[in-house]
Amino acid sequence: MPSKHHHFLAASLMFFTLAPGAVIAQERLTMDALQEGDYMKGKQTFQGRCSACHTLADDSGDIAGPNLWGVFDRVAGSKPGFRFSDTLKAADFEWSPDRLDAWLNDPQGYLPGNIMGIPEPVPAADRLDMLKFMLIETGAVDWPRPEINFAAEQADRERPYSERFPSFWNHLMFNTTRYRWEDTTTGEEFRFDVYFRPDGLVSSSEKGIKGFWRIDERDFFCYGLTGLKISKVGHMVECFPVAAMAIPRFAEELWTSKPQPGVKLHGGMQPGRPDWVATGQ
Ligand code: HEC
Repeated sequence: MPSKHHHFLAASLMFFTLAPGAVIAQERLTMDALQEGDYMKGKQTFQGRCSACHTLADDSGDIAGPNLWGVFDRVAGSKPGFRFSDTLKAADFEWSPDRLDAWLNDPQGYLPGNIMGIPEPVPAADRLDMLKFMLIETGAVDWPRPEINFAAEQADRERPYSERFPSFWNHLMFNTTRYRWEDTTTGEEFRFDVYFRPDGLVSSSEKGIKGFWRIDERDFFCYGLTGLKISKVGHMVECFPVAAMAIPRFAEELWTSKPQPGVKLHGGMQPGRPDWVATGQ
């Protein structure tokens, strides 16, 4: 079966060419191609998928991920002061648009064991624009930034949340938000789960708790809950930056807020949600 054998060889050769550290003979994303990219679209993709964990500007801080100023001129995993995984520390290549393109196409396959928890690859159609935006904003090139186009910004605002904020959407609309309501004067506690729904409503594991959510003009995620039996007021409203809610992490407790005097509300995320949520209620 000579032809099958041949295919097998071709497949494994392809794999080796894409592996980190291997010499890539030809650039796929040339500077000419990148310069043609759409800066504004790239900015949207970066803000929707990366900015919860990364800043770009010089002298900005590390968040969950390292500040990326100068990333195209440095060896992967080498930024001082950031605690990289052993995988990134061991990597001995400099980031190039092609390498980043390959990583974002297959986050775990390209660098197995890295701790950058992005839930899904960045779609191919969005990567070139995003890389152009990153080249400009991390100081790798001195291409001009386009004039802010108000019509384009306005058109962006009219796109559905699922497109404008994909990691926020994927995280919050398909998983379970878990709360522990703590009355700090009486010490009473009350636990309940909440499901933010694509239709803008909120369901709960607790009969009687209902709510709604929306994203305001500052790109803050705001939600209200009613029917809170333990609360003296019975309802609450709070807002967080969408970027803060877009970090895909799961734990019993991830954040704490003070929705009312004398109340601490501990929030966390659990993967998945019961089937009945999708059918309304
Ligand atoms: C959930 C937080 C999170 C998100 C979202 C995220 N990153 Fe990261 N990023 C990290 C962490 C953590 C590391 C360090 C990974 C390691 O050490 O294994 C990292 C590392 C990197 C590095 C390597 C930096 C270096 O100096 O070697 C680049 C480049 C990068 N991320 C780009 C991106 C881009 C582009 C996106 C959006 C598509 C993105 N990241 C989304 C957390 C995140």
